[in-house]
Amino acid sequence: MLSRFCFAVALVVPVFFTPATRAGDKAAAAITVVLGAQTREIAPLVGELKDKREHKILGLTFWEGELVGRRVVITRTASGKVNAAVSAALAIDHFHPSEVLVTGAAGSLNSELKPCDVVIAAKTVQHDSVRHHSSGVDRRGARNPITGQRNPVFLEAAPRLLDLAKRAATKTDFIPMSGDDAQSSPTAVRVVTGTVATGDAFVESGEKRKELRNALQADAVEMEGAAVAQVCHQFGVPCLVIRCVSDTADETAMADFETYAAAAAANAARLVYGIIRELAGAGCAPRP
Ligand code: ADE
Repeated sequence: MLSRFCFAVALVVPVFFTPATRAGDKAAAAITVVLGAQTREIAPLVGELKDKREHKILGLTFWEGELVGRRVVITRTASGKVNAAVSAALAIDHFHPSEVLVTGAAGSLNSELKPCDVVIAAKTVQHDSVRHHSSGVDRRGARNPITGQRNPVFLEAAPRLLDLAKRAATKTDFIPMSGDDAQSSPTAVRVVTGTVATGDAFVESGEKRKELRNALQADAVEMEGAAVAQVCHQFGVPCLVIRCVSDTADETAMADFETYAAAAAANAARLVYGIIRELAGAGCAPRP
């Protein structure tokens, strides 16, 4: 049986792996799309692109190039769910990526996470996708216009991307928290696999933080991830959200964000860089 299979493979492989479709052929190479809301969240990656070229789509800039041997397209979405969804849909339609990665800062909801710690999102949830009624809220996913079905409230990351991210994290040199808040010396960066909650609100309230943690058991809150995950789910594209803590989403959030946003953006980008290196090493195939 096995030898018959090998014989069939031997016949088929030379047909599909002609020079025109070999990995390395830019026209056929798999593409990873990376989305970040703010310039500082994408700049470390855009700066590393080789053979960089710019695409303008409806006035938005998408930078395409090669990063550690993989074709990558990067764009700045600006803040919020709608902006992120627009960029995700345009990128999927124009570049047909194998996967979409979201990078950037977040507020922590898990009290064990401090600024500079990293969350790999196994799940994302839109915390403001609710029905309010007199006795509370019901959570429900938006209806997928393609299938007519409701999306799950919690969208799960692609398992393969999750595994690659965990592996990449063990090889990534993260920036530790430093300064007054780190007390005597910089503390090691913690990387957790958890849940990221998304909504159109910058959370700077201890009360809201507690509510989101209790209702969703989420580890971090931000403003784009689950919206991109919804777009990817509806269009059948694997997605992973990477966040680094810039603040604790409470009354000091805005001041902490000012202090830590740059380091948080850099840490998330470092992990995304590592994931892209893993993807390049794994020789992942392009989507058909
Ligand atoms: N991104 C970074 N910090 C945030 C917060 N506290 N709320 C929402 N998005 C954020």
